[in-house]
Amino acid sequence: MRKKIVAGNWKMNMNLAEGLKFAGEIDRYFRDKPKGNVEVILCTPYIHLSGIAEILRGGKIFLGAQNCAAEVSGAFTGEVSAGMIKSTGAEFVIIGHSERRTYYNEDDTLLNKKTILALGSGLKVVFCCGEVVGERESGKHLSVVKRQLEEGLFSLSEKEMEEIVIAYEPVWAIGTGLTATPWQAQEMHQYIRGLVSEKYGKGCADSLTILYGGSCKPSNAADIFSKPDVDGGLIGGASLKKEDFIAIVEAA
Ligand code: PGA
Repeated sequence: MRKKIVAGNWKMNMNLAEGLKFAGEIDRYFRDKPKGNVEVILCTPYIHLSGIAEILRGGKIFLGAQNCAAEVSGAFTGEVSAGMIKSTGAEFVIIGHSERRTYYNEDDTLLNKKTILALGSGLKVVFCCGEVVGERESGKHLSVVKRQLEEGLFSLSEKEMEEIVIAYEPVWAIGTGLTATPWQAQEMHQYIRGLVSEKYGKGCADSLTILYGGSCKPSNAADIFSKPDVDGGLIGGASLKKEDFIAIVEAA
């Protein structure tokens, strides 16, 4: 059975004290619960990583970053490498979020490079893909996601592909309150699994976790997660509210 995951993407929210306190609350809630079949990941700003790694130690929650550099080390002022992220105790990194693609001009080639470096440092990658509204309206959503996966991921070996989680996030649904319908999510997730199956075989595709992201909240999570190819969610806004995030994990 493939793994279900709910990952919180804090984006650029919470100062250090706030983030440590919040992570402590989430950790305490899940620490005492029986181990379910859903993996919970907190993807925080870089500055929180080492402090939160200490808090989460020995518990049930995993830790991730939201980006990494496209270089290993050296004179790249302001950048943080995948190896540095790994050294904090984090195990995941989000790569290819639409906000990185849009605001920081990260293209498929760069994202492929980051993915390879992250895997090489021992991180697992939550690789994001998704179309903008115009692409969906003109019926190009499937081909856009196909290109993002082919150029971003499909140079990986089958072994490397086992360390990948794909997050489908229609850009028009991120932070907008608009959500893909469960059927729109299912259609795309099934399509993605098919592409992975063609490239890497059915075994690899069947064990691949594919998350939905985009205005996921307690009121719609159960419906979306009930679809056979939706294996959990990447949660932005609702991951900043303890009750909402916990409710979404429980829906999964
Ligand atoms: P949202 O963000 O849940 O606030 O729409 C999701 C994401 O960007 O990962």
